[in-house]
Amino acid sequence: MQLQAPSRAGRIPLIERYREYLPVNDESPIVSLLEGDTPLIKADRLSRAIDPKLSIYLKYEGLNPTGSFKDRGMTMAITKAVEEGSKAVICASTGNTAAAAAAYSARAGLTCAVLLPKGEVALGKVSQSMMHGARVIAVTGNFDDALRVVLEITEKYPVTLVNSLNPYRIEGQKTGAFEICDVLGDAPAFHAIPVGNAGNITAYWKGYREYYEAGKIARLPKMLGFQAAGAAPIVRGRPIQNPETIATAIRIGNPASWKTAVAARDESGGTIDTVTDDEIVDAYKMLASVEGVFCEPASAASVAGVRKLAAAGYFKEPAQVVCVLTGHGLKDPNRAVKVSPPFMELPPEIDTIAGELGL
Ligand code: F0G
Repeated sequence: MQLQAPSRAGRIPLIERYREYLPVNDESPIVSLLEGDTPLIKADRLSRAIDPKLSIYLKYEGLNPTGSFKDRGMTMAITKAVEEGSKAVICASTGNTAAAAAAYSARAGLTCAVLLPKGEVALGKVSQSMMHGARVIAVTGNFDDALRVVLEITEKYPVTLVNSLNPYRIEGQKTGAFEICDVLGDAPAFHAIPVGNAGNITAYWKGYREYYEAGKIARLPKMLGFQAAGAAPIVRGRPIQNPETIATAIRIGNPASWKTAVAARDESGGTIDTVTDDEIVDAYKMLASVEGVFCEPASAASVAGVRKLAAAGYFKEPAQVVCVLTGHGLKDPNRAVKVSPPFMELPPEIDTIAGELGL
């Protein structure tokens, strides 16, 4: 398979870049869309607004091929599925896992089925799964219901699970931590991340620990996880029957990687906290308007959380804080339009338009 067009020199498949840390061998049939290597953007204006002591960096995962961090895990999961002779994959998803599974399956020639909670998946994500030719099923239930069915199906039928319970997904996603350390020269003091099914916080913590054990970094970060207040099972300490939040990507009541998320929090000396939908929307708008970085609502939970902790006096001294922006803002255009002031509609007349613009 041709992996790299000559014009994209400098970008290589994630698996090639971090091969020594990943469970692949020379025969592994790498399925890649040249994912990863996403920018770590220093956000000075945001830092000043939130807490001038902090140096906030944004790990902009929306710039992955399908617009979210899921591509890191999916290049691994689909590569291994092909290596193991699988012909079909399946996942439950709030949208981004499905989009990535659909795209990487298309590239590998695998059949892909995605189960989505009906009416609760952002438009951009649904369009991706459809365009990449996945079998899309809207389940009349929430994500937790869909995941339960998918787990039963993969027990009974020869279909590979590509949710983050698939350990290769976590292996791929841990590379986000490697990239942050490669750029900063060490781990940041704090790593802030939205928590939904809890695979990503698990993966980042694994990545940091592996780099630490390999002597690549001298310290480990404190992991700061944030759940939406209406979908915060880990913070509340019990599954939530009917999770609710505008951040549909993390509208999850019973996370699959619950235990490892708690371990990441406790081993790192960090915290997992809630952010309200209002706090999420404020951070979402702030990122776009103050830094020019457009992420989806769930992604803004990381910044909303840091803002909440800063206001409560959590940060005692100057520190680097990396916030993972997990998905691109264009994933959920409806929400963006809904939270923005309406635009004007005017005839194409110079005086009217100049007048409205106050020129
Ligand atoms: N941010 C975005 C944009 C997501 O899509 C997800 C999860 C998360 C954060 C949370 O990550 O689940 O590893 O804790 N989306 C999954 C999906 C559930 O199906 O796309 P997590």
